[in-house]
Order: sequence, then C-alpha cells, then structure tokens
Amino acid sequence: MDYKQHIADKLKIEGVGSEEIYSSLALPPDPAMGDYALPCFRFARIFRRPPAAIAEELKNSFPTDGVICEVNAVNGYLNFKVNKAGLADSVLKRILSEGEKYGSSEMGAGKTVCIDYSSVNIAKPFHIGHLSTTVIGGALYKIYKFLGYNVVGINHLGDYGTQFGKLISAYKRWGNREEVQKGGIHAINDLYVRFNSEADGEMESEAREYFRLIESGDREANELFEWFKDLTLAYVRGIYEKLNITFDSYAGERFYTDKMQPVIDELTQKGLLKDSEGAKIVDLEEYGMPPCLILRSDGASLYATRDLAAAIYRKNTYDFYKCLYVVAYQQNLHFRQVFKVLELMGKEWAGDLVHVAYGMVSLEDGAMSTRKGKVVWLEDVISKCVEKAYAVIDEKNPELADKERTANIVGVGAVIFGALYNSKIKDIVFSYDKVLSFEGETSVYVQYTYARANSVLAKAEEEVVPPEAYSPNPQESEVLKMLAAFPDTVKDAAEKYEPSFVARYAVDLAQKYNKFYIGCKILTAEGDAKKFRLALTKATRTVLSTALALLGIGVPEKM
Ligand code: ARG
Repeated sequence: MDYKQHIADKLKIEGVGSEEIYSSLALPPDPAMGDYALPCFRFARIFRRPPAAIAEELKNSFPTDGVICEVNAVNGYLNFKVNKAGLADSVLKRILSEGEKYGSSEMGAGKTVCIDYSSVNIAKPFHIGHLSTTVIGGALYKIYKFLGYNVVGINHLGDYGTQFGKLISAYKRWGNREEVQKGGIHAINDLYVRFNSEADGEMESEAREYFRLIESGDREANELFEWFKDLTLAYVRGIYEKLNITFDSYAGERFYTDKMQPVIDELTQKGLLKDSEGAKIVDLEEYGMPPCLILRSDGASLYATRDLAAAIYRKNTYDFYKCLYVVAYQQNLHFRQVFKVLELMGKEWAGDLVHVAYGMVSLEDGAMSTRKGKVVWLEDVISKCVEKAYAVIDEKNPELADKERTANIVGVGAVIFGALYNSKIKDIVFSYDKVLSFEGETSVYVQYTYARANSVLAKAEEEVVPPEAYSPNPQESEVLKMLAAFPDTVKDAAEKYEPSFVARYAVDLAQKYNKFYIGCKILTAEGDAKKFRLALTKATRTVLSTALALLGIGVPEKM
C-alpha cells in the first residue's frame, strides 16, 4: 500500500492539493520520530502563521486509523507513524502469497513498447562500449514486461555501409574460407583492420565496387555478406545468452533498403526536402540544429534515412505506445534530428519516441577505443569477471559445491550490475575489483545476502507463516518499509527509464536486511518473534531475487 498516498488523500489543507502534499512528504532523519514527515514551513507563507502552529492544527484535524496510528507535531513538522503491525501483516502476506509476482502489474496491458537496444554492427568487434546499451535495454525489457506491457526487443543491426565492400575486398586478397569459418568474428575483424591499414586508392575503389555489387544484388557479394553476418550473429548470440538477453527482431539497417524511397517521396511531397550542393536535406535551422542529411550527392542514403524508415515501419507494424532507443549520448543530435523530421512530417506519434541516452564505459587502464586498435571485447570482460569471481569464492568458501556454476552467476551478475548501478547518463570506469567486492554496493553483496537468507530458511526447517498480530521493532520495520516500496520502485524505474533504481533498491534492501540480521536473533528467537523474522527473511529473499532477475542477474543458492 502507498502510505504517502493515504496520508495525502486524508490530510486536508485548504488551497493545497493532495499531489503537493504527496510530493512534500519526506522520510524523517531518525525513524524513531516517525515514518513520514510533512514540513509545514511552506504553508506558513500561505496562512501567515508560524509553522509550528500550523503543524499543531493539522495534527488535531487528522484522525488516526488502522493505517496511520500516530501523528505528532514537532518543530514545524507533522510526523506520521505507520501502523507496523498492519503493515507487517499486509506486506508479508502479500509477498508470501504472490511470490515472484510481487511488484508486477497489469498497468501496461494492451500497450506495446518497442526497445531498440544493443544494435551491434556486423563484422565489427562487440566491445565493452556495447555493454551499457545491452544490459540497460535488457533490463528495461524485463521491467516493462513485469509491468504488463507487450514488449518488442529490436536489434537494429548495423549491417549497411561501405565497410562491407572493404571486407569483401580484404577477404578476396588475404582470406581463407576455413580460417574465417573457424576464427569467426575475430578473423573477420582482423581482415577489416588489415584492409584499413594497407588500403591505397586502388583498394578503396575496389571496395566501393564490391559495395555496389552487394547493393545491386550480385550473388557472390551477397553470399559473402550473409556469411559474415551469420558468423557475427552466432558470436553475439552466445554473449546474449550469457547475459540473459533476448530479442524479438533482428531487423537491421539493411532491412530498410526498400523502405526508404517511400519516406523520400513523402518528404518531397510535404515540401520538406531541399537541395544542398547536390545532396538532399531537411533544413532544421529554425530548431537550432544542423540539417538532417537524407541523400548524399551520389544518391546514397544515410543512417538517419534508415532510422526514419525504421520508425515509420515500427509504428505501422507494432503500433507502439512508446519506442525507446537505448543509444549512447554521442548520438543525441542524431535522434533529436530524426524525431524532429518525423514531427515535421506530421507523425503525431513522434512524441512517443524516446532516446534513452547513457554514458561511456571505460576500463581502469583507459582501454576501449576501436580506432587505436585497443579494443576490449565484451566476451573477455565477462570471462575475466567470472574467473576472478571463482578466485574470490574459492578463497571465501573453498568447500562450496558447484563453485563453477556459482562463479558464473556471480561474475556475469557483476558485469551487468557494474554497468547498471549508476544513473545511466554518467560515464563509468569499470573496475573488476569494485564490481566483485562483497562489501560494496554490488550484485555480489546482494547475492550474498540472498544466500544468507536462504541458509537461515534452510536451517529453520519449518513452514513459514507470519504471526497474526505482531509489532515489529525498528530494525524489522526498516526491512518492512523497504519491502513495501518495491512495487513503486519498479514503476519509477520504467517511467524514468532507469534500471539503476532497481539496482540501488536491491542494495538498500540487502543493507537493511543485514542490519536486522546482525541486530536480531532469528533461529534462536521464540514464538511470534521467530515466526515473524522467518517470514521477513523469506519475503526479503523473494524480493531480492526478483529485483536481480529484472536486471538479468541470477542468484546462487549458496555462496
Ligand atoms: N549500430 C549503431 C551504433 O553502434 C547503433 C544503432 C542504434 N539504433 C538506431 N535505431 N539508430 O552506433
């Protein structure tokens, strides 16, 4: 139940709406003072009376009930205490009966959300720079599904462009079928890098010719292209599997080859297309942006042209309620331009397109960039994290059965969580030691807490049934309040496109649970206290695992 809403609905202040009351309700610094506090200083100006007097008066006009059991006026604040026994009863019962469905919703029923994420480039390295889009998009996918939306995950493959001409040219010069088949994406990448370092004018024009052959439907050129694409996809699918990522569509840029002409016709017909030194553009000067390039002077289409066609295709095919693009902030301008052009075309749904921008990921030693040839493949980051996780687990708990499986869950989780924990727009420096710390704000810490709760329940060997009427102590209450906040946290994460809210929530809940675990006896407690604490432990275990699952992270039974 939403306690803030309950208070906001019940508290009547003349001239102040319940929404304003809701947003003013804060958590008091010391939980002993109350669970929610309303500062009355702002109202002093409206009513021209001291805040303390206003708080006193409001206190008298707020009858307590089964939900709010105590109201106090202290120094201009109105403090509310939630009926913990009631809270305990309703929250615990709900979680224990709903299990992993707790926090889910039907709010999205009948609405489709398209999420364009990961969107790898064929024949190019899948490197650490793709980590954020992959795991942020993957988490949003799961979060929206959890809230009842129909979700379409789209991998807008970068499978269009002159680089494929270069690749064919390189393959014809130096390539060997068996080697490429065996080496897969790495062999392809080597050929591409070699081409770029050795290419002269003659090779460049040969590459252009091969690209033209792909475009004109030449059989051999297209077979080679499809082969490179298959090898790349086989490789990235392996990584998606490790990261628990799925897609419903792999319609990439090439898919729009025959869907661009109608867009160009429509732009022309609506008088939006202008000539500029032989190229075709949409002028966006009025909106403070450089022109959106639609056709180059040689008639070739561009990245933006394909995104225009893709947006229209997605609207026609999926009739989305929202279409999200999880793409680095370096492409801010690109998406502002594309969205603006669609708006100018009169697509009233242009406002439903959202660029979910995120910051850069780099490693501690600064390695990342492709151009310098210092690429860090995502696959290597995952393997290294799993390896290190194994070492950490082996040191902490050498007796653990199934160490390899556990290390995999922990290591993969750490990679995902490391990229998700911070607000998405921040640039992050990925540190193996940090993401694998048992003490920090990490998935490892959350997983460890899950395993701890699990072992408490295993040792209890009794059915978990919450007691009928129980008044929780402050440490227990803190856990309860966190548990009650889960459904709102998930909704907030979806609304703000911030899986980090769920990640932070998981750490917060784990911290509160550990405080309780250290402060209160569980297995040696008696009667209702024991029953309650076991129920609290079970509910925490459920919610921790749901929260991690929404991020694509698993939980080890033991650690
Ligand atoms: N392949 C692109 C890149 O690596 C990202 C594509 C994002 N999606 C889109 N519809 N433009 O930069």
